[in-house]
Amino acid sequence: MGKVIVVTSGKGGVGKTTSSAALGAALAQNGDKVVVVDFDVGLRNLDLIMGAERRVVYDLVNVIQGEAKLTQALIRDKRLESLYLLPASQTRDKDNLTEEGVEKVIRALKHAFDWVICDSPAGIERGATLAMRHADVAIVVTNPEVSSVRDSDRIIGLLDSKTLRAENGERMEKHLLLTRYDPARAERGDMLKVDDVLEILSIPLLGIIPESMDVLRASNLGTPVTLADDRSAPSIAYFEAARRLNGEDLPVTIPGEKRGFFGKFFGRKAA
Ligand SMILES: Nc1ncnc2c1ncn2[C@@H]1O[C@H](COP(=O)(O)OP(=O)(O)O)[C@@H](O)[C@H]1O
Ligand SMILES: [Mg+2]
Repeated sequence: MGKVIVVTSGKGGVGKTTSSAALGAALAQNGDKVVVVDFDVGLRNLDLIMGAERRVVYDLVNVIQGEAKLTQALIRDKRLESLYLLPASQTRDKDNLTEEGVEKVIRALKHAFDWVICDSPAGIERGATLAMRHADVAIVVTNPEVSSVRDSDRIIGLLDSKTLRAENGERMEKHLLLTRYDPARAERGDMLKVDDVLEILSIPLLGIIPESMDVLRASNLGTPVTLADDRSAPSIAYFEAARRLNGEDLPVTIPGEKRGFFGKFFGRKAA
């Protein structure tokens, strides 16, 4: 039975979709069977970032409404044969996602995949709570700034109350993914420091993804960043986060700090 992960944040534009695609690809590059599900009905970004926008025929809403079979809606990645996408509808209304429908789809996906990654819409409304409902693990994507941290704190509250796990009195595994981290701005005090974020949110750190042009370049090509260039700084950070998701106990390096160790570490890994 596969693991269901929700990639969530509260705030929009922090890197949920980028991270869903990158982590999904990283896990699939490791040989696991992965599906990334776009819950952002109305916006539909994930298929663009994964370079599959021209191949979307049916979507999550079609499946829920019985207009298409799950196998008809799933899109297999052209580069990685164990990576799939379940796209969102661009035209439909969020209300087309029903609780029973989502449950059925997630149950079927859990049987067929090792990882079901749910890319959540922004906000704390229905779309976001539906995306997190069946999760075993939550990745809380946060930027090192006050408004993002505050929204993440609210999302953590929802994860501990509105999910099936929480309702059944089970522990909800939560991880912090700090994205768009810019060491120079953190140094100048324009951004929160890693320690400050960890102190406020107090959930374990899955990784720190540096702010990087490589992310923009990859998304313009319609390629998850880990597939575009597996040696770029954000790719390495996503690969390491994926290994931590798999239970590996790897130290997290803060971008811009301990440069000597940093360089050596990467050199060794790439060898
Ligand atoms: N590490 C990063 N470095 C630079 N830009 C990033 C990074 N992560 C995300 N972005 C950019 O931020 C914007 C929002 O990202 P996205 O993943 O769509 O966020 P969300 O899904 O949370 O709304 C996009 O333009 C994306 O390219
Ligand atoms: Mg998004």
